[in-house]
Amino acid sequence: MNQYRELPRLDGESLASLFEAAKADELAVSKPFRMPLEGNGEGGGFSGLITSGRIAVGDQAVLLPGGERITVTRIGGPGGALEEASAGDKVTVFADAPLDASAGQVLAATDDQPSVADQFAAHVIWSGGEPMLPGRLYRLEMGPQRARATVSALKHKVRPEDATHEAVTTLVDGEIGYCNLSAERPIVFDGYDDNPAMARFDLVDRQTDKRVGSGLIAFALRRATNIAWQALEVNKGARSELKGQRPCVLWFTGLSGAGKSTIASLLEKRLHAIGRHTYVLDGDNVRHGLNKDLGFTDVDRVENIRRIGETAKLFVDAGLIVMVSFISPFRMERRMARDLLEDHEFIEVFVDAPLAVCEERDPKGLYKKARAGKIKNFTGIDSDYEPPERADIRLAAAEAGVDEMVETLLGDLERRGLI
Ligand code: ADX
Repeated sequence: MNQYRELPRLDGESLASLFEAAKADELAVSKPFRMPLEGNGEGGGFSGLITSGRIAVGDQAVLLPGGERITVTRIGGPGGALEEASAGDKVTVFADAPLDASAGQVLAATDDQPSVADQFAAHVIWSGGEPMLPGRLYRLEMGPQRARATVSALKHKVRPEDATHEAVTTLVDGEIGYCNLSAERPIVFDGYDDNPAMARFDLVDRQTDKRVGSGLIAFALRRATNIAWQALEVNKGARSELKGQRPCVLWFTGLSGAGKSTIASLLEKRLHAIGRHTYVLDGDNVRHGLNKDLGFTDVDRVENIRRIGETAKLFVDAGLIVMVSFISPFRMERRMARDLLEDHEFIEVFVDAPLAVCEERDPKGLYKKARAGKIKNFTGIDSDYEPPERADIRLAAAEAGVDEMVETLLGDLERRGLI
């Protein structure tokens, strides 16, 4: 199995029957043993629901991810001890040696092991209400397995009538897509060809906890396994020390015209003057280069912010004080950027000016064009802005002057021990 193998051609009916098969216990019993662990059972055992196959006292099993092997010494069922158990049974398994296992790990047959991978290809049926946003972090749930995951590439939409493909950038409710997913940690699964019961997962919105899609994994993508993290001789600490500073990101969010770039630029000037090493990542500028392939649809904005979050992280790694000045309209992506850094390294600055004020200022004449219908998807007009719920710093940008706001920021950086 590899990432180059031919894409499966499935129509709506065969996909629906695969989802059905993912639940059917009779089929699952004939498949290799898999038991995702839900937690520690009493007496040092591990409890969970057997998703496929069977297990008997005396059998060997392997704990994944990890690879520790055990021999089963006892199986506890709802009515007492069992000699063996199979798919659909909720049991507690005891081993010959104390196991250091945790919820979400999977106990599996040693002679026919599942895939363990953080990148894989899957069919997804979308049901989110809101369209799918490739690049956004969703929560992947597969039984007790949990991981944050993104759709790293939406390959195509599948037309259910005839299984033909259509290139798309998003999926809406009821649509089926074939995509690559990238999880933040390895998932234990089987391809749906081999064992549908271990291929089924859900994608959940991390803010609302609602399911937004259901998927069936086709196969693991091997690309990630050949890329190791290269340890470098000079690290973030050494780079920062040489500069005599603690790196961080000041993440400015707010409507177009609120004053983000003006404030960031003046703050950089002040920091520069006191010998700090800085950089400003500004939406308008970055969109001329690195992100010039992106527009202003929700899908493109998510990708815009994902790339800038990663870029800001690299700059922090370089030891710099980074000012990010992007509208960054969605809470989820700001949170994603925050999660890429250490707690003390990310400071969210809400440049808060009402729409009416920004529109009145209209420094680039864009609001006028948007109102005239000449620019589509303009933030605040026909595209959403989600204000921060708990910004680290809120600047009342309609009332305060730029100098005053920069003083506030300098004071805050000092209090945090960052300058
Ligand atoms: S973001 O929403 O993806 O974070 P970003 O900060 O990169 O946006 O770019 C916003 C800048 O692009 C604005 O300051 C404005 O100059 C320009 N712009 C052009 N079209 C739009 C649009 N439809 N919505 C918002 N800004 C736009």
